[in-house]
Amino acid sequence: MKYTWSVSVLLLALVLVAGCYYDVEEELYPTLECDTENMSYTNDVLPIVQGNCYTCHDQGSNFGGVILEGYESLKTYVDNGRLLGAIRHESGFSPMPKNAPQLVACNIEKIEAWINAGAPDN
Ligand code: HEC
Repeated sequence: MKYTWSVSVLLLALVLVAGCYYDVEEELYPTLECDTENMSYTNDVLPIVQGNCYTCHDQGSNFGGVILEGYESLKTYVDNGRLLGAIRHESGFSPMPKNAPQLVACNIEKIEAWINAGAPDN
């Protein structure tokens, strides 16, 4: 009788500990995930460029003679490598967005993944 009781307590304790561990693990890493699967120009890339670059690079602003508004315009800077160089802050390129913090890593990864997939107009 005594033996059964302590085994039950032990089992219960194990279940509780396992349960807690599981919860904690889920809470620890929620923001590390960056989904770069099947990137789309319209749904993924455009919102990033629109939100961070259009103030200076839409058709009207045209800062530095650089227009990124519209797929064809953006594609020019994908193909000549200046888009990636600028957002990654590589030497030899003007770091973008100008006078603002670098894009968050996940957004840079998303643009890179899209470019690696051939920068489709999707
Ligand atoms: C506050 C205005 C401003 C913002 C915001 C901005 N740019 Fe620029 N960008 C410029 C100017 C001005 C130049 C011309 C070069 C220079 O003055 O550094 C330029 C140049 C560039 C170039 C050419 C760089 C080179 O080395 O040839 C690229 C590519 C570029 N920007 C991409 C972007 C992208 C992508 C974003 C958004 C993530 C962005 N820019 C946000 C002002 C801006």
